[in-house]
Amino acid sequence: WNALPFAERVIAWQRSHGRAGLPWQLTRDPYRVWLSEIMLQQTQVTTVLGYYERFLQRFPTVAALAAAPSEDVLALWSGLGYYARARNLHRCAQAVVDEHGGEFPRSAEGLAELPGIGRSTAAAIAAFCFGERVAILDGNVKRVLTRALAYESDIASSASEKALWAVATDLLPDAPAGEPLHAAMATYTQGLMDLGATVCTIRRPACDACPAHATCQGRASGAPERFPVKTRK
Ligand code: ADE
Repeated sequence: WNALPFAERVIAWQRSHGRAGLPWQLTRDPYRVWLSEIMLQQTQVTTVLGYYERFLQRFPTVAALAAAPSEDVLALWSGLGYYARARNLHRCAQAVVDEHGGEFPRSAEGLAELPGIGRSTAAAIAAFCFGERVAILDGNVKRVLTRALAYESDIASSASEKALWAVATDLLPDAPAGEPLHAAMATYTQGLMDLGATVCTIRRPACDACPAHATCQGRASGAPERFPVKTRK
């Protein structure tokens, strides 16, 4: 188990301990996965569940969302906060309809050009929906990776940003024997997110429950919660 590459350990952990069966995990429809990713950016899963279902009832397709009046979109978002997200959501739906014939681009690179979709969100959607072998790097994943490496540099620097994207890319799974890479990429991507959210937490990380604990430099240092290092505010 401990000799397995990082990605395989994350995948095995995700299969037995990660969050599964959430509505957006049961589909590869980029519209639904995109909607869930935007909602999940600053909001807890339990809160998102209700909003996600109501939103899809009212706007079952990206075309329906694009055609809706802004007030209706904002009204359904009300309570989720961060209203820039809702405005970008609407703009993004309109861009998909007006510039992409109503179909989301099928690559992380194409997705990242849409309003409100950053590099990590684009990668998550591409991994979940299309099995693309591409790295995510959100706040949770930065915490997991900087702890795994006991990464001492300030993560706010552009050199760190670049280095951590390279680390995240190096750690991606290879296609497992007899299994499509698609499934591995979806499971690995969700696994990293769930590890950061539930095990490698900001305070008091549950290192005993972590699939990477045997090789984690942060844990070996005795103070994993020291990472990521942020000197500037
Ligand atoms: N935060 C952002 N995306 C997420 C996802 N797919 N699952 C859980 N938390 C998330």
